[in-house]
Amino acid sequence: MSAGIRLPQTRLDDLAAQLRTGSGVGVETLRADLTVAADVAQVAQRLSSDPAISLLVNNAGIAMIGPLIGSEPQRLEKMISLNVVAVTQLAVAAATAFAARGRGTLINIASVLALAPERYNGAYSGTKAYVLNLTQALEQELSPRGVRVQVVLPGATRTELWARAGIDISYLPPGMVMEVDEMVDAALAGLDLCETVTIPSLPDMLEWDVLNTMRLDLVPLLSLKYAAARYAEDATFSA
Ligand SMILES: NC(=O)c1ccc[n+]([C@@H]2O[C@H](COP(=O)([O-])OP(=O)(O)OC[C@H]3O[C@@H](n4cnc5c(N)ncnc54)[C@H](OP(=O)(O)O)[C@@H]3O)[C@@H](O)[C@H]2O)c1
Repeated sequence: MSAGIRLPQTRLDDLAAQLRTGSGVGVETLRADLTVAADVAQVAQRLSSDPAISLLVNNAGIAMIGPLIGSEPQRLEKMISLNVVAVTQLAVAAATAFAARGRGTLINIASVLALAPERYNGAYSGTKAYVLNLTQALEQELSPRGVRVQVVLPGATRTELWARAGIDISYLPPGMVMEVDEMVDAALAGLDLCETVTIPSLPDMLEWDVLNTMRLDLVPLLSLKYAAARYAEDATFSA
């Protein structure tokens, strides 16, 4: 999450300096355009080879807000490359390294739009549904190996994402826009609560649990030898 318009390296360096002086932690920056395969590979290599890295926040992403009809193909490709391809490569690199070391934490940033494909742009929400799916699959593989996995589904949050997607966030009803600090604090609290899925604004996580349990109950019925009775030839004729 970020603010102001400066060159990416300057912004990284400024933030690193702020963290060093503000909290005394050691900070190293690594610049990468995660829509470029060589840059993704460089970051993945670092994740694989540096045992000091014990946590990855897979946060980088861009959005498209308008309808799918008329969406610019290059922007779609860039978004999918960043939100899906890079996220996957980095998640898998971290998962592989953390599993081998028997410890580590992977946090993937999705969106509530993973659960609401009818809202905004279906390709953007699709990338975020992918991140949710990827994380749920990774959780199953990683939790027996001692690695923590969390996917965060923020609702509308006041960041540069909206302006970068060509939308003035002030047009959204103020009651549905969260401030960044509130969102990040809630996400970290969700991590402390050992949640795999964190939805910062959802009042009761039981609602999510019910939805997820219903989904899991469907699984044994989704691949069977015979088609359902409603698709039988005579059923089609009588319809
Ligand atoms: N804001 C919301 O309402 C909202 C809601 C749900 C989910 N999310 C998700 O939250 C995550 C963070 O977004 P944000 O809201 O904080 O937006 P943001 O302020 O625009 O930040 C996006 C981040 O992604 C980085 N990034 C963009 N393109 C990149 C590229 N090609 N290579 C490497 N890094 C790149 C940006 O780095 P630079 O600043 O250096 O470009 C920045 O750090 C995203 O995954 C987004 O989908 C946001």
